Amino acid sequence: MTADAPVVIAVDGPAASGKGTIAAAVARALGFHYLDSGALYRLVALKALRAGTPFADGGAVAALARALDVRFDGGSVSLDGADATAAIRAEAVSAGASEVAVHAAVRQALIDRQRAFRRPPGLVADGRDMGTVVFPDARVKAFVTASADERARRRHKQLIAKGISVTMDSLLRDIRERDARDAGRAAAPLKPADDAVLLDTTNLTIDEAVARVLALYRAAPA
Ligand code: C5P
Repeated sequence: MTADAPVVIAVDGPAASGKGTIAAAVARALGFHYLDSGALYRLVALKALRAGTPFADGGAVAALARALDVRFDGGSVSLDGADATAAIRAEAVSAGASEVAVHAAVRQALIDRQRAFRRPPGLVADGRDMGTVVFPDARVKAFVTASADERARRRHKQLIAKGISVTMDSLLRDIRERDARDAGRAAAPLKPADDAVLLDTTNLTIDEAVARVLALYRAAPA
């Protein structure tokens, strides 16, 4: 990347840590573009489900990832020309996303698509490996965490609001499984970049967390 490449703020962290909400709010506050990289892994999982391709078949899933016909438009996303905004949030797709994400070939297939979001005036990128792999030269790297219990509580509240009934126990189990898979994989495991700032949101409101990231950005040398 050249020295005058548009600025990137990387917001990484585990499932349900609040990073997506925080990253989108930071992007709005600064008028920057926003990349929800998890949506790409979710779209690949959805495509594999629809195509009947096993998540474990890294080569076949990577071929789907390379050919993915997706469009992001504001808060919505379409796959093969049809709206997929709600479909990619289904629990089966969440679990599938972390299964397809273990394959190095799948991750490689999505790198250029992610980097294409880097456009003036700047980008806020949310995911697991934004600061470590995709944008190692990001100006700000925040690693957002919260306790597993707190993350399960937040997810529970969101799902109840949508009229979906789930138990806290099953959510906590899913979150722990997803954390273990994301942190344990060989390709781009979930871990803070050496130069990331840890932001524990267990006891922070969204507004407070957004303010911390904005303060990091304002304090970061250009
Ligand atoms: O962030 P989100 O929950 O939408 O991501 C879904 C899954 O995609 C994660 O559990 C993770 O396995 C994978 N992912 C990833 N790298 C990213 C973003 C998401 O491996 N940059």
